[in-house]
Amino acid sequence: MASPTATDAPPACPVPARILVVGGGGRENALGWALARCPGVEQVLVAPGNGGTAALAGCGQLAIAETDHGALAAACRERAIDLVVVGPEAPLAAGLADRLRAEGLAVFGPGAEGALLEASKRWAKELMEEAGVPTAGYWAATDRQEALEALERHGQPLVVKADGLAAGKGVTVADSLEQCRQAIEEVFAGRFQTAAPGQEVAGPSLVLEERLQGPEVSVFALTDGRRMVLLPPAQDHKRIGEGDTGPNTGGMGAYAPAPLLDGAGLEQVRQLVLEPILAALRARGIDYRGVIFAGLMLTEAGPKVIEFNCRFGDPECETLMPLLGPELARVLLACATGCLEGAPSLTIEPRCSACVIAAAEGYPGEVRRGDPIHGDLEDHPDLQLFHAGSRREENGQVVTAGGRVLAVVAQADDFDIAFERAYGGLGRVGFEGMVYRRDIGHQVRQRRPALP
Ligand code: AMP
Ligand code: GLY
Repeated sequence: MASPTATDAPPACPVPARILVVGGGGRENALGWALARCPGVEQVLVAPGNGGTAALAGCGQLAIAETDHGALAAACRERAIDLVVVGPEAPLAAGLADRLRAEGLAVFGPGAEGALLEASKRWAKELMEEAGVPTAGYWAATDRQEALEALERHGQPLVVKADGLAAGKGVTVADSLEQCRQAIEEVFAGRFQTAAPGQEVAGPSLVLEERLQGPEVSVFALTDGRRMVLLPPAQDHKRIGEGDTGPNTGGMGAYAPAPLLDGAGLEQVRQLVLEPILAALRARGIDYRGVIFAGLMLTEAGPKVIEFNCRFGDPECETLMPLLGPELARVLLACATGCLEGAPSLTIEPRCSACVIAAAEGYPGEVRRGDPIHGDLEDHPDLQLFHAGSRREENGQVVTAGGRVLAVVAQADDFDIAFERAYGGLGRVGFEGMVYRRDIGHQVRQRRPALP
């Protein structure tokens, strides 16, 4: 029998000593916090970071915008960065990972082509069709008339989705044909048109989708392009108001693991959704290294994909990071370098994690900014305070600087205690005009928690 040779052995999977996290939201604060805790990680830099990452143990901050790819590449060279983790979708869609990989850097996050999974609804729908992934039926249109005709032929309200990145604002779930027509007009009036810096804006285009019914759940696969590790399913709360009312937001709170999807359900999602989409990406020659985020609706006919994203969800990331073990940094580097097979398994704590977002007055519309943030949470192993829209002023005062400002996250053996702990923590921090939902996790709470 042949003895194993160097080429048979799985590639070595080291710990990245110096990590750069790109982005400045709650997600990046949570990523920086989790990576800095991994044994062997010496330094985590966050660019541009926020008022919370400035104070994180083991973390530093770089005042470089996520759009400045040249300056990010130069910082990686100067600081001998071993791993770059790109948080948001916009720099991924704009090719930041391609640029850094071309310089020989290990990057967790797909290139611009892979990021089309999120950046183009139409491209994603075509790939899902090719891969046989269950999703809502759809009609794509690049022309107003074509879209209106497709709607009239269907004769029922459809979900209208502007193509391209629209910061979560390009989707209209219409109740009437008239609302659908209006949404179509808005798309073709160019209301959701965005382009990454240096890129051309394509003409407006959209996808019309059948409306599905059922609870929503977020599933995350960390992948090296071939293999994948699944994280516990999480449930987000997208509406601003209690009882899931009012306009959509980036997400007002989350919890994990969501019992909606048990072990067998998650395995079904792996087989029906994640493995086939990864195979379809590979078949197109796309070596996708990063997170595949499947936003699913659990319909009576089984799980169906509402959307794919090319990044961690926010606030799902804040919710999940405290459950992940000390192997996280090695696993992300292994994804970035295509050697997940040789990586240690990622420990996932079998506990309940609860996250509540504190937003600024006016969110999701225009918000007030510049209000001092007071209070802090002492070092408690089961309670974390992550910052999102916050900024540290020169005098050291941290002030509000965005819509979603803080994320308070807590873990416990059951959801009642986890939410009690999170809301208790929220009672100890704040700022003028702070708004939050008191019913996050209502789906999994048995009794009403003691609220601050
Ligand atoms: P997206 O920006 O694609 O996440 O869509 C925003 C929200 O619209 C989702 O979280 C769903 O609640 C809803 N949505 C999107 N597509 C559909 C669909 N086909 N049927 C019902 N609801 C949808
Ligand atoms: N929380 C949903 C998202 O990040 O898209």
